[in-house]
Amino acid sequence: MCGIVGYIGNKSADSVLLVGLERLEYRGYDSAGIAVIDQRGLEIRKQAGKLKVLNKHLKENPIAANTNAGIGHTRWATHGEPTTKNAHPHTDEAKKFAVVHNGIIENYQALKDSLIKEGYKFSSQTDTEVIPHMLAKYYKGSLEGAVQEVIKHLEGSYALAIISEHHPDKVIAVRFGSPLIIGKGKGENFIASDIPALFNLTKSIYYLDDGDIAVLAKDKIKFLNCSGKKIEKKEKHLKIKDKKIDKSGFKHYMLKEINEQPAVVKKIISKHLKNGHAIFDKLNLTKDYLAKVSRIIIQAAGTSWHAGLVGKFFIEEFTRVHTEVDISSEFRYRNPVIEGDTLLIAISQSGETADTIAGIREAKSKFIKVLAVCNNVESTIARESDAVIDISAGPEIGVASTKAYVAQLVSLLLFAIYLGKIKWTLEDKKVSALINEIKKLPEKIKKTLADQKLLKKLAKEYSEAKNVIFLARSYNYPTAFEGALKLKEISYIHSTGYQAGEFKHGPIALVDKHVPIICIVTKGDIYLKMISNIQEVKARKGVIISIATEKDEEIKKHSDRVIYVPETTDILTPIINIIPLQLLAYYIAVSRGCDVDQPRNLAKSVTVE
Ligand code: AGP
Repeated sequence: MCGIVGYIGNKSADSVLLVGLERLEYRGYDSAGIAVIDQRGLEIRKQAGKLKVLNKHLKENPIAANTNAGIGHTRWATHGEPTTKNAHPHTDEAKKFAVVHNGIIENYQALKDSLIKEGYKFSSQTDTEVIPHMLAKYYKGSLEGAVQEVIKHLEGSYALAIISEHHPDKVIAVRFGSPLIIGKGKGENFIASDIPALFNLTKSIYYLDDGDIAVLAKDKIKFLNCSGKKIEKKEKHLKIKDKKIDKSGFKHYMLKEINEQPAVVKKIISKHLKNGHAIFDKLNLTKDYLAKVSRIIIQAAGTSWHAGLVGKFFIEEFTRVHTEVDISSEFRYRNPVIEGDTLLIAISQSGETADTIAGIREAKSKFIKVLAVCNNVESTIARESDAVIDISAGPEIGVASTKAYVAQLVSLLLFAIYLGKIKWTLEDKKVSALINEIKKLPEKIKKTLADQKLLKKLAKEYSEAKNVIFLARSYNYPTAFEGALKLKEISYIHSTGYQAGEFKHGPIALVDKHVPIICIVTKGDIYLKMISNIQEVKARKGVIISIATEKDEEIKKHSDRVIYVPETTDILTPIINIIPLQLLAYYIAVSRGCDVDQPRNLAKSVTVE
C-alpha cells in the first residue's frame, strides 16, 4: 500500500508532488521518490526512508526549475527491501518511461523472466519494474496505446501514474483494484491515491473505476476504458474540508487521538441518541428490511476486526440476530454460505483496506446488502456499500488506531440498540437503563484518562519485557486482543491476547516470573471466573497487572498491580477498558524510543491484499 501522486500544470511539479506525498505518507514510509519531465527530459529523485530523507536529497540535488509535469510515490514495500534501488519511480533502461505503482503485479515474475530472455536488464527487485520495460517494448508512438497493451498482460491490483520523455505534455493514470482519484484544476490537473493529497488543490474530482485510464494534459482530461474507447466520468464536488491536522500540543498524534476519545464519543451520542432512543434515520436501509434480517456477518481487519468481535456481543445481546465475525482476508476466500436475509457489516477506519473491499465485493456478488461502519464517507468501502454509518472520529493520523476503535464500538452499540427496537427484542426499561449509562461514557473516559501516573510507571518497569500476555473473558476478550495489538504495533514487543478460559489449554506454558500478564477483570457476570484464571497464572509465578473496577479491594489480593477504571454496565466495559491499554502501549513505546506515529513495517491504510 503506497501513496501515488501526479501533476501537470504551470506550477513547479516537484513542489506540488512533495506536498501531496506528505499528505499520503500514512500509506507507507519505506521510501519516496518523484520523476518530473519537461522538454529537457526525465529527472528522477528517490531515496530509501521517510519523505524527509527525499526532501534533504532534493535540497542537495535540486530539480531543474519549471518542470511542469511529474509523478511521485511513497512506499510500503511488498516486493524488494526498502532500498533506494527499489524505491519508485521505476524506469526502463533508456529512461524514456517512468512509473509509480500502488498494488501488486501478481504475475510479475513470469513477465520479468520473459523480458530478461528478450534482453531487458532489471535494476530492482520490485514487481513494478516490469511495467516501464514493457512500455518501452510496446511503444509505437502512442503512450496511451502502449499503456493499453501493457495492462493486457498484468494480473493483480494496480494504480499507476506514468510519464514519458516522448510526451512531456501528458501524464497517464490507470486503475485496477487499488484506489485512484483524478483532480481537475484550472490549467492544471492532478492524480492522487486518496483525497488528502488534493486538499487545497481542487474540489472537483473523479473516482477512477477498475479498468479506467485517464490522460491528463494541462487543460483537459480524457477518460478511456482499457481498450482505448472514450468514456464519460461523473465529476464529484468534494464537500469535506481540509482540516489542518496538528498535534494540538501533544508529543504524538496517537496521544492526541487517545485524548480526543471523550469528545468523539460525545459527538456520536449526540448524533444517534435523541429523546431516549437510538436513531439512524439517514441510514439507507429501511426498517422493514432491517426487521427481516435474520443473520449478520461482520467482516474487517486488524483493530476493526476486534471492534467487530465486541459488536457481535452488542448485536446478539440486543437483537438476538445470529452474528458471525470474520477476518476479511479469510472471508473473501472461504466461499461463505450466504442466504438472502443476511446483512454484511464491513468495518473499516480508512475505508480503503483491500481485504475488506474484496469481502464486500464477494458479498455483493451473492446479492446481499452491505452496511459499512467507516471513518471516511468518501472511501471505496463507503461508496461500494448500500449504507454507511459514519463513525465521525475525525482524521486519525497515528497508524495505531485508537479513537476510531472506540468510535466503532459506540457506533455498533447504538446501531444494535436501534436494530433491537426494530426487532422488538429490547424492552423500553432496558433501553433507558442502557442509554443512561451510555450518556455517562464521555465523563468516565475522561476520568480514565485523568490519572496516568501508574501507567507511566508500569511502562518504565516493563519496557524491556520480551513477551506480554493479555487475558480477559466474555465482552472483554476482544479488549485483550486489541491491547496486545496496540503494544505489538508500536513497541515491537511480542504480545498476545487470550480468552482467559482458553489460556489453561496450552498457552499458560508461557508463564514465568518475567512475563507480565495484564488481566481485564472489571466487575461483571464472569468476575469470579476471571479471578480463578488469575489464580491459575499466579500459581505459576505470573506477574499480574489487573484492570479493575474502582473501589474493588478484593482484586488487590490477586494482583501485583491494579489499574482502576470507573464502573459501568458490564457490556459497556470494553469501551472504557481499552483506554489504559492504549496508554500503556503508548508509554512503553515512548520509553523504548519507538516511532509511535509511524511504526516500522506498517501503514495506516492497507490497500493491497
Ligand atoms: C490498527 O491499529 C492498525 N492500523 C490496523 O490493524 C488496522 O486496524 C487494519 O489495517 C484495518 O484498517 P481499517 O480499519 O482502515 O480497515
